[in-house]
Amino acid sequence: MALPPRKIKSGGNYYNKWKRDPEKWNPTEESVWCELQLQILGDFEPLTFDIDQDKFKEEMEPYKDSWVPYLQREGVQNNREGLLLVGLEGDAPTDSLSMPEAIARTGKFLEETDFNTPTQLYKDLTCLHPLLDYWEGLGRTMLVKANQGGFFPPHRDNPHLTRNCFRVVAFIGSSTNVDSYEWILDDRRRNIVAGKSYYIDTRKTHRTHSWEDDSIHLILNIPKTWANVQKLMSKLRYS
Ligand SMILES: [Fe+2]
Repeated sequence: MALPPRKIKSGGNYYNKWKRDPEKWNPTEESVWCELQLQILGDFEPLTFDIDQDKFKEEMEPYKDSWVPYLQREGVQNNREGLLLVGLEGDAPTDSLSMPEAIARTGKFLEETDFNTPTQLYKDLTCLHPLLDYWEGLGRTMLVKANQGGFFPPHRDNPHLTRNCFRVVAFIGSSTNVDSYEWILDDRRRNIVAGKSYYIDTRKTHRTHSWEDDSIHLILNIPKTWANVQKLMSKLRYS
């Protein structure tokens, strides 16, 4: 099911949202602690989790034909697919994984932390368990595969101080390095190394583009708690 073309959103609605429900949009003390600490770390920080790519390939073999289209828009060609690792209760790895599609299929507003149930694919990909099992809980977590020409247009992910998750991304596969996959964050192209993982400040404007097939990204939404920020800091490559 393709969704209607994406609208360019104005940031002005935050004011209206806050006016309507200040309780929800005023950050807690813990939220401010977390954001200040994350900001100190940087916006594209390598972590010490490395992915065993041979094992990943082997464990993905039963799923190699299961990839589902990722957020296709009417009239737009965008070659990207995905599989769910942490979804809504009862979700299969092949249920639609983008937030707009999940909202469309459930008919209700969802937050990243509403996705809290590991799928069978999570259980089967044991090579990812050191990274996935490390945190105190996970929100919506998925594999996204960008093929040649696949892209994400400029956007921010939850830029408000009250966001309830931060993001860690691991890049998997031979087509996932700085030459084959462009990740522009805050107007700068970033030095992605295949098999490595990063804390990425996705509150900043970013856009991506794949020049080759089979560029796989593991995207984790990690609940933004002081405990998880301390955990993140304990896995920085440069501490
Ligand atoms: Fe994003």
